[in-house]
Amino acid sequence: MCARRKDSPVVTDDFLPRAATTAAARPAPSWAKKPPPKSKARATGKITARRYAAPRDPHQHARKIADNVLDAWYQNFGGGSSIDVPLGTVGGLSLLRNLPGLADWVLNLQPEELPKLLKEIYLGHWVKRPDLINRAIRLHDWAWNPDPGKQQLRAVHAVTRAAINTGLLELTGHDDPRQCSEADVLSPLLTGLRHKSDKKWRGEYHTPACVTDLMANILVDKDFAQPGKSFCEPAIGSGTIFRSVAQRLRDLGLNTHDFGWYGNDIDSLSAGCAAVNAIIWDLGPRCLIGCADSLAPDDHYAKTRTEAADAFEERDKYMGAASSIVAFRRAFDLVDQLTSQASAA
Ligand SMILES: C[S@@+](CC[C@H](N)C(=O)[O-])C[C@H]1O[C@@H](n2cnc3c(N)ncnc32)[C@H](O)[C@@H]1O
Repeated sequence: MCARRKDSPVVTDDFLPRAATTAAARPAPSWAKKPPPKSKARATGKITARRYAAPRDPHQHARKIADNVLDAWYQNFGGGSSIDVPLGTVGGLSLLRNLPGLADWVLNLQPEELPKLLKEIYLGHWVKRPDLINRAIRLHDWAWNPDPGKQQLRAVHAVTRAAINTGLLELTGHDDPRQCSEADVLSPLLTGLRHKSDKKWRGEYHTPACVTDLMANILVDKDFAQPGKSFCEPAIGSGTIFRSVAQRLRDLGLNTHDFGWYGNDIDSLSAGCAAVNAIIWDLGPRCLIGCADSLAPDDHYAKTRTEAADAFEERDKYMGAASSIVAFRRAFDLVDQLTSQASAA
């Protein structure tokens, strides 16, 4: 990480750009071949979020969620699909606020209702941060498939239950961004889903939170962290260093929104996870996440800025069209009312 100088709904199903190629699926490990556990729903009809003893340490909690999601994924799907699917499911659910009763409501959704829920979550955030949600396209592109396979739906259902029952919303669904930023759930999930050789050639080994926390505590003090400064991470992974810096700024009584954040990764799934995390951790309006080769001579920061500006412009265009449709409908309703009043008189 290095410091950078200061610079600066009516929507159709195909409003987002299509994603690039999907990642190689990791083969199911041998331990995952055992049959999935019997569904509690079948026995009782309605299910409620399981009461579990959440590990006190938020990083352990995040790892537990990732472990249970990996078990659920391989037991129900066997890695037959892209790893975008479990990552996008957990990423989407992490963007929910933990409202009373929400966990139970999500647990009682049918498998075929889940892609719709995830689309709505991503779409809701697209309205606010189209640049980050576009960057995370690999995480939600699959949910827009109008004809998803039954096996994939079953796996998404199992992943959703595993994540919710292990207390995902209790980790990421707080109103207070400080509490939402206590751990990075997507980091152990992304590295756990990657095939060993895939991980090796990508160099995808994320720095442990205890190390990033220590780095942030040593490097970031009140003299260094002047509001207006920007932080730059050229190989961001899921953004775990930014999480530690954001928490350190909060510890110093500073607001993450007063800083610039620029993270880049050559891998679109990593960049997507960093983009979702940037929303969960509330890094603020001056956070940009790019997807490019940091070693290439071209100006990837400028490219990311242009892509973000285009995303906002496209959002405004769609929202403008949506507002016009609503206004036209209201006007037509009014004309109908006046006409029927006039003919009644
Ligand atoms: C070792 S991980 C580090 C992630 C994060 N910085 C951390 O400390 O947890 C390396 C990351 O760098 C990315 N990467 C490797 N070569 C890159 C390049 N030339 N440009 C941008 N990112 C790159 C990989 O995709 C991977 O996500």
